[in-house]
Amino acid sequence: MTAATIPAPAPPSVRGGEPRSPEAALLADVDRLIGEDLAACERLYAEELASAHPAVRDVRDHVAKYRGKRLRPILTLLAGAACGGVNGKHRTLAAVLEMVHVATLVHDDVLDGADVRRHVATVHSRWNPRTAVLFGDFLFTHAFHLAATVDAAACRAIGAATNAVCEGELTQIHERGNVDLTEAEYFRIVAGKTAALTAVAAELGAVHAGADAATAAALRGYGEDLGVAFQIADDLLDLVGEEGRVGKTLGSDLVEKKLTLPIIRLRDRLQNGDAQEVKALLTAPPADARDRLMPLLEGAGALDSAAATARERAAAAVDRLDGLPDSEAKSLLKRLARFSVRRTR
Ligand code: IPE
Ligand code: IPE
Ligand code: MG
Ligand code: MG
Repeated sequence: MTAATIPAPAPPSVRGGEPRSPEAALLADVDRLIGEDLAACERLYAEELASAHPAVRDVRDHVAKYRGKRLRPILTLLAGAACGGVNGKHRTLAAVLEMVHVATLVHDDVLDGADVRRHVATVHSRWNPRTAVLFGDFLFTHAFHLAATVDAAACRAIGAATNAVCEGELTQIHERGNVDLTEAEYFRIVAGKTAALTAVAAELGAVHAGADAATAAALRGYGEDLGVAFQIADDLLDLVGEEGRVGKTLGSDLVEKKLTLPIIRLRDRLQNGDAQEVKALLTAPPADARDRLMPLLEGAGALDSAAATARERAAAAVDRLDGLPDSEAKSLLKRLARFSVRRTR
């Protein structure tokens, strides 16, 4: 099936006459501080993938059509700036982390059967799952090929994070359809599939700015908390987001029988009979499962409760930065953590 392409909306900052959104203001401030480093990171990314081979070129160019939020590169560069200054190693590692991230997205979309990513057709729907698997592998191998130009320790750290991402995704697949999944199990999955990469992104920013071990650990903790908050927000978007704005296939968590925090909270707040009914919906989700669950989620306060947990984790991320000297980068890291739970895309 050929996936529909969802057009990207105009950035909030340029919509006719509207005041600039907090998101646009944050991105503009990030751009002012590290815009040149982000541009350098993008050049390194493109150079690393500069294969002339037609089979590679077409897929690579398709994936590059629309940029993501660049959260992981921004984390590395801001952490570097907050801990003493950005250098070439940060720019290279930022490119590496985005490459690992995109590799996981290409593979994740195969696993989730998603048609749209970053407003364009996913690789497996535009080509086929074989191409998506191999192109994801291509991105992983290039990421480590590029990371090796920094040092062995960075390769080890990114390797450990990538191992955790894969373990998180494998656990999620293993638990697919487990309607009794606990919160603790959910948080273990999220720690692997999402927070491991944001943690290492922030940590390596600190390490390569010459930070001491305690500061590097604080930045790592910041990235971990932010990653968990970010994934909870993503799980909420999967239920209530607008596809045209988010730019990716939504609703797949229910279809793929992946239990996320709002659903777990709903199940745990219902009395026996109602909980059984919800479990039945989750076991064999009908086409209107989301519509049927939505009033229950709202009635039980499960969406609000998951959002509150995301805000708590974002606040914990902010607190981790207490020991850093005040700087524009530090205040942007704080805003980024708060934004990660208010995002609409
Ligand atoms: C999507 O990550 C996968 C999750 C961890 C939720 P992003 O939301 O950062 O994706 P892009 O890079 O902006 O497309
Ligand atoms: C994040 O989880 C997956 C990765 C670690 C790549 P999701 O499956 O929720 O991510 P999206 O919603 O497809 O971006
Ligand atoms: Mg997915
Ligand atoms: Mg998701």
